[in-house]
Amino acid sequence: MAAENWVFTVTAQTPTNIAVIKYWGKRDEDLILPINDSISVTLDPDHLCTTTSVAVSPDFTHDRMWLNGKEVSLSGGRYQNCLRELRSRASDVEDEKKGIKITKKDWEKLHVHVVSYNNFPTAAGLASSAAGLACLVFSLAKLMNVKEDHSRLSAIARQGSGSACRSLYGGFVKWIMGKEENGSDSIAVQLTDEKHWDDLVIIIAVVSSKQKETSSTSGMRDTVETSMLVEHRAKEVVPKRIIQMEEAIKNRDFPAFARLTCADSNQFHAVCLDTLPPIFYMNDTSHRIISYVEKWNRFEGTPQVAYTFDAGPNAVLISHNRKAAAQLLQRLLFFFPPQSDTDLSSYVIGDKTILQDAGIQDMKDIEALSPPPEIKETNTPAQKYKGDVSYFICTRPGRGPVVLTDESRSLINPETGLPK
Ligand code: DP6
Repeated sequence: MAAENWVFTVTAQTPTNIAVIKYWGKRDEDLILPINDSISVTLDPDHLCTTTSVAVSPDFTHDRMWLNGKEVSLSGGRYQNCLRELRSRASDVEDEKKGIKITKKDWEKLHVHVVSYNNFPTAAGLASSAAGLACLVFSLAKLMNVKEDHSRLSAIARQGSGSACRSLYGGFVKWIMGKEENGSDSIAVQLTDEKHWDDLVIIIAVVSSKQKETSSTSGMRDTVETSMLVEHRAKEVVPKRIIQMEEAIKNRDFPAFARLTCADSNQFHAVCLDTLPPIFYMNDTSHRIISYVEKWNRFEGTPQVAYTFDAGPNAVLISHNRKAAAQLLQRLLFFFPPQSDTDLSSYVIGDKTILQDAGIQDMKDIEALSPPPEIKETNTPAQKYKGDVSYFICTRPGRGPVVLTDESRSLINPETGLPK
């Protein structure tokens, strides 16, 4: 190490992902090894991502982390496992200009600071741990000059949070459950990049909920201990679905993709219901969204939209293309109009061009929306549920992690090594 007191930093941005074939259940709690393969789509980091800056300095006395402005402890087993795995793979780092020289051995004694921000509200329950853990591992791997490919890094991120391993890639990603006891083959691989199927549009309905949800970690533990259905799912259903889903993605076969995505989300929630005590992640609003989508898809004769729900009530709706997305947004805004005091620009966020495609510029346009034809036809009264959705995020499939080289994007003060 050079004698000078320096601070060396790296900043990275990592996307979040949503599973279309769900991971639910571990066969090893410490290593985080799943009972089945899973497949996800990475969401555009412009709308949903974590940015993390990491720093190392001989002045740092212990490992520290700040998440969304608050200091959090890094002492948890999962963080410690990731840090240990990364330190053991660290290599020499040299920056002559700054007078920095770190040898492989130095990393055992050096401490790191981690500063992380999500560009979306953590409270919204949108897989923030996946992006967060993936970003922690990715940025530290760059800082420590870990010379391993993304799949090997995914096996480290997996030990932070299972779903995080799928955030190491853009596009469609498969987490292979693996067979080895030590987890070395439980890794994520990219199926296709984000350009392969770029006409998909994703709308997330952030559903208002006051209920405290069961965490994924404890929920899936209870499921494995008590549900008989989950065994059938992992052994009989998912293996076949994975093959079919890979095929649907490869061929951009939307009807097959939608059928599999919806069926898998529904089975995941069925397995939650089969758990003792039963877990209810979806609420009435979630169920209503499913019914509307099912009704519309049936009316059109071919699926326009796929829905999927994780460990919470939020709906992730994947539409075939922009036209279907605009029609979907019209329907969503018809059934779930904003509260009168909400401003449209905070009610529909992310890619607002979908709002233009839907012909909606202001609240008056929402009020003027007529009931969708599939509702008129069945003669069901078109009830509206104002306030049941907090807001919508329009996004699309996105890219994997990147290093941000522009130093102004760093979250760490390069002089002090503390959050800016
Ligand atoms: C429903 O990855 O949050 O989102 O591995 O215990 O950290 P841990 O769980 P986590 O579980 C995610 C479950 C899910 C489905 C999925 O993302 O595949």
